[in-house]
Amino acid sequence: MIPKVHKAVFPAAGLGTRFLPATKAQPKEMLPVVDKPLIQYGVEEAMHSGIQDIIIVTGRGKSSIEDHFDVSFELEHLLESKNKTDMLSQVRGISEMIDVCYIRQKEALGLGHAVSRAKDLVGPEPFAVILSDDIIASEIPCVRQLLDVYEYYGASVLALMEVPKDQISAYGVVDAELVADNGRENRLYRIRNMVEKPKPEDAPSNLAIIGRYILTPEIFECIEAVPPGSGGEIQLTDALKYMLRNRPIYGLKFEGKRYDAGDKLGFLKATVEFALNRHDLGDQFREYLKTVCA
Ligand code: G1P
Repeated sequence: MIPKVHKAVFPAAGLGTRFLPATKAQPKEMLPVVDKPLIQYGVEEAMHSGIQDIIIVTGRGKSSIEDHFDVSFELEHLLESKNKTDMLSQVRGISEMIDVCYIRQKEALGLGHAVSRAKDLVGPEPFAVILSDDIIASEIPCVRQLLDVYEYYGASVLALMEVPKDQISAYGVVDAELVADNGRENRLYRIRNMVEKPKPEDAPSNLAIIGRYILTPEIFECIEAVPPGSGGEIQLTDALKYMLRNRPIYGLKFEGKRYDAGDKLGFLKATVEFALNRHDLGDQFREYLKTVCA
C-alpha cells in the first residue's frame, strides 16, 4: 500500500530582501495579495488538496505568522458582538480546519536545509513542500494534481512549468522524458537529471521546478548527504538529484496559472488579477484600471 500524505511543510524563514523595506519588520509570507497573506494561499491549497497538518519552518521575526493561524479571541468576540458573521467565519475558518506546528530554522542555509528542519515533525512519511512565493490559481489545486500522481506511483513528484530561456537561471531545471499513455495529455515526466539555477546555455531543458513537491521521506538522508551548492546553500534540487540514484522521481506540468509573488512584478500581477476576479471588487477595479490605463 502506498502511504498517504498528511503533512505539508512550508519553508518560511527567508529574509525577504527582495521586498525591503516592507519586510524589514514583517515576514514576506504575511504580505497581502488583495486581503490574504501570501502564505494563506498555500495553506488553503494544502487544505483543499486534503492535507490538514501544516508544518511551518520559521525564523526570527516571524511570530506574526503564528498569530495569524492562531485563534484570536478578542477579534472573534468583537465580530460576534457586532454580528459580522461573514468576517467571523473567515477568521475562524482557517484556524479551525488545520493543525499548524512550527519549527525554527536558526540560520538561512538554503531550501534543502529548511526542509530538513522539519524531519522530526514529518517522521517516516511522505509529505508535501509548498513554497508560498509561488501562488497557483487552478481548478484542481496544484498539490492535489501532484498527489494524484504520487498515489499512483508511490514516488516523489515535482511541479514543472515551461519557462523562457532568459529566465531559466532563476530555477531548478530538469532533464526529463515523457511518460507515455498516462492519461495526462503529455504532462507527466520521469526525471533523468536536474540542476539548480543553471546558466541558460547549461540548462538541460526549459522545464523548471515550481514550488510544489511531494517527497518521500528518503529525501532527509539525501539532504544530509549533499554539500552546499548554488549560492553556497544546501539545495533541495541537489538532494533530489542525489535521490535519483536509486529512486524514481516524476514531474508534472500542472494545469493552472502560477504567479511568482516572490518578485515585485509577479506580486503586482497576482494582486491585479486576483482583485479583478473578486466578485466584491472586480467590476469597480476594472473600471478604475481603465481610467488609469487610458
Ligand atoms: C526555489 C528552488 C528552485 C525552484 C524555485 C521555484 O528557488 O530552489 O529549484 O525552481 O524555488 O520557485 P528560489 O526561488 O527560492 O531561489
